[in-house]
Amino acid sequence: MFCYLSLLFLFGGWFYSLTVANHDGCRRLKFLEPINGYALIGHVIKNISLPVGMHMYSHCRNWCTMEDSCTSINMVPREKNEIICQLSDSDQLQHPNDLKPTAGLIYRGTENKCYGNKCYNNATCLVGFTDKGYKCICPLGYTGQYCENECRGYTKLTNNTRRTTYVTRTKKCDKHLGPGWFRFQGNAGTKMPTTCQPMSRCGTYKTGWLRGTHPSVAEGAVNRTVCFRYHSCCKYSIIIRVRNCGSYYVYYLVNTPFCNLGYCGTD
Ligand SMILES: *[C@@H]1O[C@H](CO)[C@@H](O)[C@H](O)[C@H]1NC(C)=O
Ligand SMILES: *[C@@H]1O[C@H](CO)[C@@H](O)[C@H](O)[C@H]1NC(C)=O
Ligand SMILES: *[C@@H]1O[C@H](CO)[C@@H](O)[C@H](O)[C@H]1NC(C)=O
Ligand SMILES: *[C@@H]1O[C@H](CO)[C@@H](O)[C@H](O)[C@H]1NC(C)=O
Repeated sequence: MFCYLSLLFLFGGWFYSLTVANHDGCRRLKFLEPINGYALIGHVIKNISLPVGMHMYSHCRNWCTMEDSCTSINMVPREKNEIICQLSDSDQLQHPNDLKPTAGLIYRGTENKCYGNKCYNNATCLVGFTDKGYKCICPLGYTGQYCENECRGYTKLTNNTRRTTYVTRTKKCDKHLGPGWFRFQGNAGTKMPTTCQPMSRCGTYKTGWLRGTHPSVAEGAVNRTVCFRYHSCCKYSIIIRVRNCGSYYVYYLVNTPFCNLGYCGTD
């Protein structure tokens, strides 16, 4: 509520609808000192023409604040009575090499709380939201404040040919499976076996099994080794991630480097 009121106060009536449309939480951007004679090149998402006047710089900052992905601005004098306010979705922290000397322009960054990959799972980080100074926009299937919650964003493996009891007839491999979070369910079993399995099982030739134990809930996502049986129990191995979601496990499975290596499920 405070945010709407202050925006109303700042912009007056005609910005009201814009402000309300941008209702996904309030945004407060903290701009850094202007850098004269520089511009951030290659990250402009919007050019806005503004009339030259007392408030042109603050108007440009307000446009940036209203554009969720805006992280910095360039102000470009054009004609006598117009400036171009360029909104960029990056800044000098993320792309220091793109801040270039550009005569006549003014660059202004913001306090970038997104810097340093604050969000997990390839989420988009937006500056200026919440008390933390940023918020994460999760890709489909991920949830949580930092999109860290893979317990709900997984793909199901349910085919009976995935189960260690299935004796392979047609050999497949997991060269194109992921990468991603997976859960064994239904006919595929409930989890990966943690003991060495016979060859030619679960639809593949070199049978994959988890070396080590499953983690506890408190451990979060942990790295584990999957071994692939080819005569010896661990002829090939791959690092995956495993998480205990309470009543089930999820596995971050990477593609196997070649055929016929495959991941298996059991009860
Ligand atoms: C903004 O203006 C610049 C310079 O005129 C142009 O090169 C760029 O393509 C424009 N970008 C967008 C997103 O409109
Ligand atoms: C993250 O997103 C980028 C760009 O969309 C993509 O190239 C990359 O493969 C993604 N990485 C993961 C782990 O999903
Ligand atoms: C299980 O996998 C086999 C072999 O790839 C495939 O032919 C079959 O259609 C799958 N069954 C289901 C229910 O997806
Ligand atoms: C887990 O594995 C990933 C990828 O193989 C690696 O980058 C990371 O450092 C590992 N983490 C730990 C705690 O070993």
